[in-house]
Amino acid sequence: MKVRSLLCLGVFLAFCPADAEPFANAGNELDPVIEAKIDALLKRMTLEEKAGQMSQTGKSGKQLPGSVEDEIRKGRLSSFYDVADVEQRNALQKIAVEESRLGIPLMFGFDVIHGQRTVFPVPLGEAASWDLELMEKTARVAATEARALGIDWTFSPMVDICREPRWGRIVEGAGEDPYLGSLIARAKVRGYQGNDLSAPDAMAACVKHFAAYGAPEGGREYNTAEVSLRTLRDIYLPPFKAAVAAGAVTLMSGYDDLDGVPATGNKQLLTDLLRQEWGFNGFVVSDWASVEQLVDHGIARDKAAAGVLAVTAGVDMEMVSRTYIENLPRLIREGKFSQEILDTAVRRILRVKYRLGLFDHPYTDPKLQEKVILSAEHRQIARQAACESMVLLKNEGNLLPLARTVKSIALIGPLAGHRKVMLGTWSTGAHAEDAITLLEGLKNAVGNGCKINLANGCDVDGTSTNGFAAAIDAAKNSEVVLLAVGESEKFNGESHSRASLDLPGRQHELLKAIQQTGKPMAVVLFAGRPLTINWAMENVPAILLAWHPGVEGGNAISDVLFGDYNPAGKITVTFPRAVGQIPIYYNRKNTGRPELAKYIDLPTTPLLPFGFGLSYTTFKYSNLKIENPEVTIPGMVKISAEVANTGAVAGHEVVQLYVRDVAASVTRPIKELKGFERIYLRPGETKTVTFNLPTSDLKFCDINLEEQVEPGDFKVWVGPNSAEGLAGRFELF
Ligand code: GLC
Repeated sequence: MKVRSLLCLGVFLAFCPADAEPFANAGNELDPVIEAKIDALLKRMTLEEKAGQMSQTGKSGKQLPGSVEDEIRKGRLSSFYDVADVEQRNALQKIAVEESRLGIPLMFGFDVIHGQRTVFPVPLGEAASWDLELMEKTARVAATEARALGIDWTFSPMVDICREPRWGRIVEGAGEDPYLGSLIARAKVRGYQGNDLSAPDAMAACVKHFAAYGAPEGGREYNTAEVSLRTLRDIYLPPFKAAVAAGAVTLMSGYDDLDGVPATGNKQLLTDLLRQEWGFNGFVVSDWASVEQLVDHGIARDKAAAGVLAVTAGVDMEMVSRTYIENLPRLIREGKFSQEILDTAVRRILRVKYRLGLFDHPYTDPKLQEKVILSAEHRQIARQAACESMVLLKNEGNLLPLARTVKSIALIGPLAGHRKVMLGTWSTGAHAEDAITLLEGLKNAVGNGCKINLANGCDVDGTSTNGFAAAIDAAKNSEVVLLAVGESEKFNGESHSRASLDLPGRQHELLKAIQQTGKPMAVVLFAGRPLTINWAMENVPAILLAWHPGVEGGNAISDVLFGDYNPAGKITVTFPRAVGQIPIYYNRKNTGRPELAKYIDLPTTPLLPFGFGLSYTTFKYSNLKIENPEVTIPGMVKISAEVANTGAVAGHEVVQLYVRDVAASVTRPIKELKGFERIYLRPGETKTVTFNLPTSDLKFCDINLEEQVEPGDFKVWVGPNSAEGLAGRFELF
């Protein structure tokens, strides 16, 4: 093993956090055979070919000086970010492998964010399942389908913690909590990468957007993230650290200006922290033209300076803009830039290409896809994921589930027959016709035994109320009303920040008009973010949050509406009463005057708290026990509670554990999620749920910005959400 590789390995292992999991994937460990191959290849590469390995483009090639084919032949391209077609891939790959001087294979990336052709619930929805095994499984299905379509690398998981529901991309992440977000990040990396990146059901993960892109001021897309170093480390970084520890082989740098230093040009972040502190050995890709945009940020005087800043900071591959290939070889020849930095970046990229098996198997077998794409098994997993993601927000008088004997249903609202709302944002690999609408799902569920009276009532965001009369009519002529309202897939996602969280268009008035008919009514709410549904929470008996549930959405919603699946989802982001409350999140600080830290015109409590979700049954928590209320550091606190199903139907419950560090060297949140277990209870059944909480899970950035566990008093809660639970305490010494 070369000295350098030993050194890397040594450095890497020295920095490997004590509590890091053994790698789910060897993507981050160094393989001496691969390192030797890279050494040999680097020796043969010209400066242009090296800079070419650091350049990614789109299939249109519109940023290129010549044709795509020419650039590949000249070794001036390494990767594509938007090819998801086997023939296209193999044709481009053939040029690289057979017509370029060194035959280095291309690497094909794509935004496989929540499934490729089999689309799963949007990530904020899937997170509400709290089912880590399921989330790993859907990632594995996504990888299987993507690889069969010629995609080697997904720009996922997006692990940006977000406390900003105005931000359109809150939909792409796991919500506001770093503990849950870290576990989901790890599950996704394991699901995508498996244990062998060259396998047909694996692809490289890309953890994004590093870092704190989920904290844009005002919720405005691409806006500045003003985050303290302590909040960065305690809140925004943990999911990235968990993903790196799980073996993620790539990260993507964010667009955001992070405390004055844009993430894409931030050496402290991309090198000092990511590589030296965390020991990351994969590569970093920029976001779409985020290298060139360092000029717009005002941190580089021109494109050449932007390229130098980014690659020196630690961005190894440039997406779309061409500052690396157009400047670095010349600057090295002029003695103005270090070849060492170039070689290091190229090494990291080649390392992943070798791990993916691209040198041995550069082409995709076109026959693969017919076996795996949108298979019955994948559709079934999508239906299960959709069921588990849904959150029952209200169910007064047990209006739900509906009786199968219902003879007529009014299905009203602009999303009643809407197809693309099921797929949500970032479903570029999907075919709209694959998605089951709510109308189709209901018909599949009730057959001909029940008349469905359909009326849109209004558009998703139009101004007309001309359709109200027909909708009211449909309601009056039906036994029960289902109102399908909320955001369509065009209301969230990238560049879709909103200054209001209200129902778009005239949907709120439609809701009121239908409610005035006095008919039994349930709302099926589609959304990619928290919405201020205050009036509905007050006046509508039943509300089911369906998010954007994926390709099997219509069937899954019907499964829940008719009780074939008992909903158990729990929101992973706080729902505010008003935009004026933002930022509002559960793990807030107490302040010195907690009773007085309030508004004169609104309660300080949220509309719905983090971790909230109902069931068709009821659960009772009792008998909180702390086996060892005095624990020395390092140690384990053993906490248990009994949970009983006190209702008439079986169901899942996500039992949550929260702690509070009562007094520390810096102020600590009033609550922090530190454990959860998703259990299944039959009617009358009781289970004891036990949490073995390692004291190491209680570390935070102390007064010296060092990760420490401090002795002292801790409060603890076990309950159904962040606002309620059995209370206890323990002490660390
Ligand atoms: C976009 C997004 C990023 C995505 C990339 C490629 O601007 O910020 O998440 O992966 O470009 O599509």
